[in-house]
Amino acid sequence: MQQYGVLKIGAAIAGLLLPGAAWAAGPPALYTAAQATAGAGVFVQSCAMCHGADLKGGAGPGLIGQGFAAPGADVTVGSVFGMVAQQMPATAPGSLSQTEDEDVMAYILQRNGYPAGSAALAYKDSMGSAVPLVSLVK
Ligand code: HEC
Repeated sequence: MQQYGVLKIGAAIAGLLLPGAAWAAGPPALYTAAQATAGAGVFVQSCAMCHGADLKGGAGPGLIGQGFAAPGADVTVGSVFGMVAQQMPATAPGSLSQTEDEDVMAYILQRNGYPAGSAALAYKDSMGSAVPLVSLVK
């Protein structure tokens, strides 16, 4: 019993320290694990040369952590997805298929601490989505 109480307090403190504490019950599940796996392949092929294999940046900005999506920075799923779908890869904007856009977005969400779920991330819902993107990665 006492140990349970300590665990609960520990979890509450961890929640306060987590950058993504904006989410009362953790960030929403917006993609499937299969999409993120496919997106990792798209990323290596079409993005890593500028954004870094670790997403920490290179010729392009980092796509992970607080420098990318800090609380209060007003980053949304829609703002990132629109950038990916319409302006990336920077050398050939819009050259990916809609499926590749969805998959690579799933991968970015996964790497920033968002959980996979049972519903797939869809192009039309993601374009313009106001769901906040707050990285849980420091
Ligand atoms: C040739 C280099 C290059 C490639 C390849 C590239 N990007 Fe970019 N990317 C950039 C640059 C440069 C910027 C900054 C442009 C700007 O802010 O206008 C950027 C910006 C972004 C942003 C916005 C970041 C922010 O903080 O606002 C996202 C998201 C992004 N890229 C995703 C991708 C994805 C996903 C891919 C692969 C499909 C990709 N990029 C491929 C160079 C590249």
